[in-house]
Amino acid sequence: MKSIKWNLDLSVGIEEIDEDHRRLIKCLDDLFTACSVGQGPQVLTDILQRLQQYTREHFSHEEDYMQKIAYPILEEHRALHTELVSELDDIIEQHKLGDTHELSNQTLQFLEDWLTHHILIEDKKIGKFLGAAQ
Ligand SMILES: [Fe+2]
Repeated sequence: MKSIKWNLDLSVGIEEIDEDHRRLIKCLDDLFTACSVGQGPQVLTDILQRLQQYTREHFSHEEDYMQKIAYPILEEHRALHTELVSELDDIIEQHKLGDTHELSNQTLQFLEDWLTHHILIEDKKIGKFLGAAQ
């Protein structure tokens, strides 16, 4: 069964951002579980919408944080966030229109890869910038 858990390797060294990431990862894990036990389309839609909502809240929180610390590549980072939000919109739309109402492994893998890559590469740069600035 596909599963994802937050672990220390994913820490960006900023507690309030780690806290958001834990919530997002837990939500993605709920999606994996729902898919693997064959939950119906409505349950999957609900979790996807929750994931979308958490993602939007988190991105806006993280962007405020970057603004506060005068993060030099905020706009680049914001563009990546905008991209994912629109990908998530597409995934939700396609899921609602789909014949099978199941999520493909490809979609689940995309979400996992995007989130972990983004945290490990992009979000960690924020922690490093802060460390270097202090
Ligand atoms: Fe981010």
